[in-house]
This record gives sequence, structure tokens and C-alpha cells, in this order.
Amino acid sequence: MESSKIDHPVTDLIQQRRSSRAYAHEHIEQEKINSLFEAARWAPSSMNEQPWTYIYATKSQSEMWNKLFDALNEGNQIWAKDAPLLVLSLARKKFQRNDRTNHTALYDMGAANAFLSLQATELGLNVHQMGGFDGSKVRNDFNVGDEYEIGVIMAIGYPGDPSQLPANLKQRESAPRVRRKLQEFVMNKSF
Ligand SMILES: Cc1cc2nc3c(=O)[nH]c(=O)nc-3n(C[C@H](O)[C@H](O)[C@H](O)COP(=O)(O)O)c2cc1C
Repeated sequence: MESSKIDHPVTDLIQQRRSSRAYAHEHIEQEKINSLFEAARWAPSSMNEQPWTYIYATKSQSEMWNKLFDALNEGNQIWAKDAPLLVLSLARKKFQRNDRTNHTALYDMGAANAFLSLQATELGLNVHQMGGFDGSKVRNDFNVGDEYEIGVIMAIGYPGDPSQLPANLKQRESAPRVRRKLQEFVMNKSF
């Protein structure tokens, strides 16, 4: 059973954040881009390893931006074409201190991305994470070594006008956001 409403109070940023697909044709100030990565910087991580690495490109850096954009699945390109900022997130697979496998590297990168997303919400920006892209293409195009796991590409920008989107996406923009109920994933007992 799913619900589209908040059942218990949560902080406003969590309520406001959503993965929209409509972007304004407005560049993002460099200070705000810096704040996004600063938020990621302060995420918790196993052994404080901070295994995340980001490669970003603004739309004005067209060569790099296009390399990221070209890797996206067609279904993502349709709307991500207007995003003024694309960010590739990577996770270093081994601990720097001892070269052992870091089994929580992707987990930690996800936490950093969540921090970045909430900071973006605070700044009036929309972050839309995407797993739908060709990882081997970005690995090749950006010389990403084997020591990194590929995470997601994020489309980031100020919210735009959803009426500019194709009909099916327009409808998705206004559809209620649904979530599983707490009792489906929170237990106070064993399985
Ligand atoms: C790891 C990950 C991969 C995702 N991949 C895509 C994607 O390729 N295309 C897309 O449109 N949305 C993608 N999303 C967005 C999810 O569909 C979205 O977060 C989910 O439907 C919940 O909606 P909300 O973020 O607005 O709450 C992805 C999200 C995450 C966290």
C-alpha cells in the first residue's frame, strides 16, 4: 500500500525536494555550485574515507557537458537537455589508508548525494539523479580508472515550466509522489 502524504512530521527540505524534469534556462552561480559540493563534503562515511568524487560540467562548458549528456539514455536526454549543470558521481572502491576494499563506498557516495540534493533544495535548485546512462562511455570519455565505481549522473538547475515538457512527462510532473507506508519497511521485530 502506498501513500502520497506525509504521515509524520519531517523537515521542510525533505518535503520540498523532488526529482523534477523541468529546468529554467538560467545558469547556476558558482558559489551555489560550491555549496552543493560543500554539503556533500560533510556527509558521514565509513572511517571518514569520503570515497566520493564528482566531475561536473556547466552548460557553458559545452564540450564536457555534452560528453555527460551524450552518455544519458534517450529517455533522460529528452528532459535533461535543459539542465544547466550535469554532475557525475563516482566512488573510490578502496580505502586510501590501507588499500582494502571499501564495501560501503557506493553507500557513502549515495549519502553525499543526498546531502547535496537537500542543499540544492535549500538553494532553490532541483536535483534529478539518473542511473540511466552508459557507464562505460563516461568511464572512457573522462578517463575514469578502475579504482572508481560509477555512481549516477545528476541533472541540476532552477525549476522551469513543466508545460514545456512532452505530454507524458508533464503528467508525471504533476502526479502525486507516492511512498510505501512505514509499516512495510520498518520493523520492531525479527522477520
Ligand atoms: C540511483 C537513482 C537512479 C535514478 N535514475 C533515474 C533515471 O535514470 N531517470 C529518471 O527519470 N529518474 C531517475 N531517478 C529518479 C527517481 O525515479 C526518483 O527519485 C523517484 O521516482 C522518487 O521521486 P522523487 O525523487 O521526486 O521523490 C533515479 C533516482 C536514483 C536515486
